[in-house]
Amino acid sequence: MPSDSFTPPQHVAIIMDGNGRWATGRGWPRLVGHRKGAERVKEIVAASPDLGIKWLTIYAFSTENWKRSTEEVLGLMGLFSRYIEREADRIATDSVRMRFIGDRTRLDSRLRGLMDGIEARTAGNNRLNLTVAINYGGRDEILRATRALAVRVAEGTLDPAAIDDAVMSGMLDTADLPDPDLVIRTSGETRTSNFLPWQAAYAEYEFTPTLWPDFSPAEFAQILARYSSRERRFGGVVKA
Ligand code: IPE
Ligand code: IPE
Ligand code: MG
Repeated sequence: MPSDSFTPPQHVAIIMDGNGRWATGRGWPRLVGHRKGAERVKEIVAASPDLGIKWLTIYAFSTENWKRSTEEVLGLMGLFSRYIEREADRIATDSVRMRFIGDRTRLDSRLRGLMDGIEARTAGNNRLNLTVAINYGGRDEILRATRALAVRVAEGTLDPAAIDDAVMSGMLDTADLPDPDLVIRTSGETRTSNFLPWQAAYAEYEFTPTLWPDFSPAEFAQILARYSSRERRFGGVVKA
């Protein structure tokens, strides 16, 4: 358990990267890395409430990941379905609320049905809010929101001058989520790859060289401890 001086981030977002390298480095197919990565997700989700985290958002598939081979894309989609099917009971009994962000229209109807089902089944849970980004891209999300706002303006039901931070935030897939306090990326890449550009405008970032299949709850706890010693100023000045 965290000590009294530990101020955990309320909302942690993770760019789970490095599954492919973890597998190919061992001479195995990339999908083996994705399967191992899914096992890690279970551990990190299970560890989160005791680390003081209320909101956990994980990047599982980006709008750019369709560029990968059909085999890899279909393998990942199958993994998402199996994860929901196999984990549903545990998620529900652990009082985890599961949500998804991203454009669902390009996902197959069976996966979409599973996503809708677990969202509805866990809607009353509140121990941990787990959000999985599937076919998510920050620019795509902002474009979809902008189009929806433009429709209202064209209909005459929205005054352009009324579009402020809150209105925009409310149009995004993350309308019900607080902004992330901390974004973690594994695998040593120091880029954000289109993840939560609006929401993470004031987030803290942590980059670790660890590949996602090797990312342990112990390393997660270390990163959270480092976060608690950071000073967040939000553009202001901290009084001496
Ligand atoms: C992250 O691992 C998972 C997804 C993007 C789906 P990668 O598959 O990107 O692994 P690397 O970066 O190729 O090692
Ligand atoms: C970001 O990882 C997307 C996910 C973790 C789902 P990528 O591996 O797709 O990102 P790039 O290609 O290195 O920027
Ligand atoms: Mg990658």
